[in-house]
Order: sequence, then structure tokens, then C-alpha cells
Amino acid sequence: MGGDVKANNGYDDQENIDAIVYALENGINHIDTSESYSGGKCEKLIGKAIKRFDRHQIFIATKVREWNLTYDKIIFACNESLKRLQTDYIDLYYIHKQNDKSDIKEICKALNYLLEQGLIKDVGLSNVKVNTIKKYNKYLNKKIYAVQNQYNLICRESQKKGVIDYCKKNKIKFICWRPILLSYPGVKNPKYETGTYPLLDYMAKKYNVTNVQIVAKWLLQQENVYIIFKSNNCEHIKEILDTDKFLISDDDWKKLDKEFPIQFDVGCSSNEFYELS
Ligand SMILES: NC(=O)c1ccc[n+]([C@@H]2O[C@H](COP(=O)([O-])OP(=O)(O)OC[C@H]3O[C@@H](n4cnc5c(N)ncnc54)[C@H](OP(=O)(O)O)[C@@H]3O)[C@@H](O)[C@H]2O)c1
Repeated sequence: MGGDVKANNGYDDQENIDAIVYALENGINHIDTSESYSGGKCEKLIGKAIKRFDRHQIFIATKVREWNLTYDKIIFACNESLKRLQTDYIDLYYIHKQNDKSDIKEICKALNYLLEQGLIKDVGLSNVKVNTIKKYNKYLNKKIYAVQNQYNLICRESQKKGVIDYCKKNKIKFICWRPILLSYPGVKNPKYETGTYPLLDYMAKKYNVTNVQIVAKWLLQQENVYIIFKSNNCEHIKEILDTDKFLISDDDWKKLDKEFPIQFDVGCSSNEFYELS
């Protein structure tokens, strides 16, 4: 929301704010953003949208980027996010991506400080494999709360490399980014629309729901798996909320899992390949 990597004034800010308000009014309380989304504008839009709500009923997650992973920069970045979000604490503060040149001990020192000060309530890691989670847990004073990786019917690295199982076993919430967008470079006919994936069309027809609802529900039916999706269209948001009105049978869930025609073994440690224009 608010742009792409940089802020884009051509976007309709009010439409974005209205979508966030609609989501909050209709039972969604988890908002996910980053200091880097639309150059910080996304956090500002969220700050405006949440004003009329009780802050304690909302769970806000934001992220510090890989180029800010020194002690001082993390503290500074967190304070800037707090200002843009117009709040005095962040529920979940993620390391957005790893930076091989950074020192995890130093990063954790900054995160421990932010935890002590009450500026952040919990720490998360994004785009990581199991070894990285273990390293952070060695130095953090509070156990990692959540891992946020790309995961959907196509991107299966987290599933295949055991990140999802590790999180479940260790009571770390597994949050999937890009849960419904199945549009990837090299994939013929980009979206989940009818006619793209016959298996999705078949399931949607069988359950009398949309393809997007099948895609989302396949994730939501997995234990300890949560989704963060983006939409500035209230009808689309309702469509996702309505996924609580049906269940995919075990056999059909497994069929989707095994037989979905395109599956990539990448997508949790790096997202560069998948960034769409
Ligand atoms: N940690 C990371 O490195 C990372 C990277 C990327 C994203 N993320 C997070 O994950 C969130 C979601 O990822 P994403 O935005 O890449 O992918 P996504 O949520 O899977 O897909 C978003 C797209 O799906 C469309 N959409 C949403 N609901 C729909 C529906 N019911 N029917 C049809 N189309 C629908 C949206 O369009 P409309 O707006 O028109 O509905 C938008 O174009 C982001 O907002 C961000 O918070 C994290």
C-alpha cells in the first residue's frame, strides 16, 4: 500500500485506509508492514487508519531492513517506525531479511534493548531457514515469536526444508507472505483465475467457492500456519474472511498438496527472484 519500494503519490491513500479500517471492523486484527514498504508511507497509512480503534485490540508487525542491521541503526529504525505508525509499541518486530555481513549477536543486543524498553513486544524473523532461527534464539532474551516466509501452493521451500515443522514443534508462529498471489516469473498464464490451473478450478467448483478461497484455505487448514494477504478491495477481503465457512476434506487437501502442477523449492531464504513489477 502507498506505492511499491518507493512511495507513489498516484495511489489512492483513502482507498488504502478504508481497506485497513474495513479489515479491522470485520475481525482482522493483525497488520503487517515494513519500514521499507513504499519508503515508509505504508506505515504512515496504517498510523492514520488505526487512530479510531483501541490500539490494544490490534496486533501490528513491522520490519527492519537488511541494510539497517547494526545496533544503532536498528534502534533508530524502530523509533522511526513507531513515529510513522503513531504508536508507542510494536507488537512484533521482524528482521526483514538477513545480511551476511551483519553480526547476529549485535542485532540481538539491539532487539533485547528494544524488548526491555517495551518498544517492541516480540521478535520475528523473515525469509529464514531453520539454522538462522536457532542462531537468533541463542542470543535473544525472548524466544522468537514468529517466522514469516513466502509460502503458497507454488513456493514450497519452507515445507520441504522443514521450516514449517520446526516452527510447529517449537511453538513459533509460521506466517506466510504472498499467500494468494500465484503469479510468478516463468509461470505461464499468471494468476489463479479460472482456466489457469484445472485442479484449482475443479476444487473451487466442488466446494462452490472461488479459486482464491481454495488457495487461502489450503494454507489456513495447516496447523500453526497463518496468512498475511494484501488487498485494498473490501470485496476481496470479505472473500478471504469467508474462507471460515468451508473446510477442504483431508483427501482433497492432500491432492492439492501433491498434485499442484507447479512447485518451486525456493522462496524462503530469498525473495529476489519473485519480486514482481
Ligand atoms: N517478508 C517479506 O519479505 C515479504 C515480501 C512480500 C510481501 N510480504 C507481506 O505479505 C503481504 C502479502 O503479500 P503480497 O501482497 O505479495 O501477496 P498476496 O497477498 O498473496 O497477493 C496480493 C494480491 O492479491 C490480490 N488479491 C487479494 N485478495 C484477493 C481476492 N480475494 N481475489 C482476487 N485477488 C485478490 C490483491 O489485489 P487487490 O488489492 O486488488 O485485492 C493483490 O494484487 C504483503 O502485503 C506484505 O505485508 C512480506
